[in-house]
Amino acid sequence: MSQFIFSPFIKSLTCLRCSRAYSRADFITEHFQYVCNCRPNQLSDVGTLDVQYDYAAIQQSISPKHIQQDADRSIGRYWPLLPLAARTSLAPVSVGNTPLLAVDRLGELLGLSALYVKDDGRNPSASLKDRASAIAVALAQENRLPVVATASTGNAAAALAGQSAAAGQDCVIFVPKSAPRAKIAQLLVYGSTVLTVDGSYDDAFDLCTAACKEFGWFNRNTGYNPFMTEGKKTVAFEIAEQLGDAQQGENASVFVAPDVVFVSVGDGCIIGGVHKGFKDLLALGWIKKMPRLYGVQSTGSAALYSAWRGDAEFPQLVQATTRADSISVNAPRDPIKALNAVRQTNGAFVAVPDEAILNAMLPLARLGGVFAEPAGAAAFAGLQQAVAQKLVQPDETIVVINTGSGLKDIDAAMQTTGEPMVIAPTLQAVRQSLGL
Ligand SMILES: Cc1ncc(COP(=O)(O)O)c(C=O)c1O
Ligand SMILES: [Zn+2]
Repeated sequence: MSQFIFSPFIKSLTCLRCSRAYSRADFITEHFQYVCNCRPNQLSDVGTLDVQYDYAAIQQSISPKHIQQDADRSIGRYWPLLPLAARTSLAPVSVGNTPLLAVDRLGELLGLSALYVKDDGRNPSASLKDRASAIAVALAQENRLPVVATASTGNAAAALAGQSAAAGQDCVIFVPKSAPRAKIAQLLVYGSTVLTVDGSYDDAFDLCTAACKEFGWFNRNTGYNPFMTEGKKTVAFEIAEQLGDAQQGENASVFVAPDVVFVSVGDGCIIGGVHKGFKDLLALGWIKKMPRLYGVQSTGSAALYSAWRGDAEFPQLVQATTRADSISVNAPRDPIKALNAVRQTNGAFVAVPDEAILNAMLPLARLGGVFAEPAGAAAFAGLQQAVAQKLVQPDETIVVINTGSGLKDIDAAMQTTGEPMVIAPTLQAVRQSLGL
């Protein structure tokens, strides 16, 4: 039996359902403890594990100034807050350091004075999922695990494929065969082993979990592998650090929390990660307050929204139907972290129809300069609705996370714009078509 190697700053992993704490000794490579034994095989009330750090030790080893002065702009700069044994285990594909854009014209449209878009479509494989897959592959390398596998609506898979290629790691991917072509192309070009499943994302998820058990592969599945939250949280670190940069001055802090963050939600792992990132910074005393977190779902895939509305502890299964494929989920796999993120920060869940999601792609691109895939634009559609419902104030500092690039799904984009004009190659045709 080999001990699983991970960060020396991790004290334990605690079940968010029954509070049982697993010590470092409980983690071995042969039978990795992904979730708590209290309900290991359930869909929506599985015992999700949360990584607990020794913040006092972290404070001794790193300060905000150290981080600010680090020449490495990738997520490796936050190493003591990552679950890795060494920052050098990250593959040589720089993940993170995506821009936090002050989108003033977009703010004007909504009457907001401090609106930002964190454009995570500008990661190596063009989605936020690179942050988590980077951690999965680095842990696999540290522990010499031969194969990493994941189920995915497409982005987590593309991210795993890209990170694996960069690290020389074998990976197996399970995606629904309906995933957008661009995402499938990424998987194939990166050279991963691709199994397109004739079924839903949920079917792919269960099949991947069964295959990992059967063949001893390291399971990267969202909401199941507790370390994925630890990668996704780096987006919160960057938001706070970039807001700190934007508010430079005599007594400026390195990290500054916004008032509000909007993020789209499928399984709920990203919003749980955003929460964890701000919780880490708060525990270290590096930010002064917790932002309110708003989770945005499609009305066609709104299990977590409904659980939150109904004050339920766990979500009910739904039959997801949404054009925003990345957030199309029947049984959310990270419900405890997602519901905690919203409830513990005084935020809310917002559900928006697909029409509003597709329409939101246009102002985001035309006034903000950000081309988002539907799931990314959903966060902005949620903000539009929240403004109408007066859930946010005009002078609050608001960050909308774009979780994926619009190039991931150009069919959805063209659905909102229609086709361009086709003209003869003559000046007269230019005059005629433009009415000049
Ligand atoms: C672009 C994009 N946005 C949002 C999400 C939703 O993230 P989560 O399933 O962690 O809630 C995903 C997940 O695949 C995604 O790829
Ligand atoms: Zn438990």
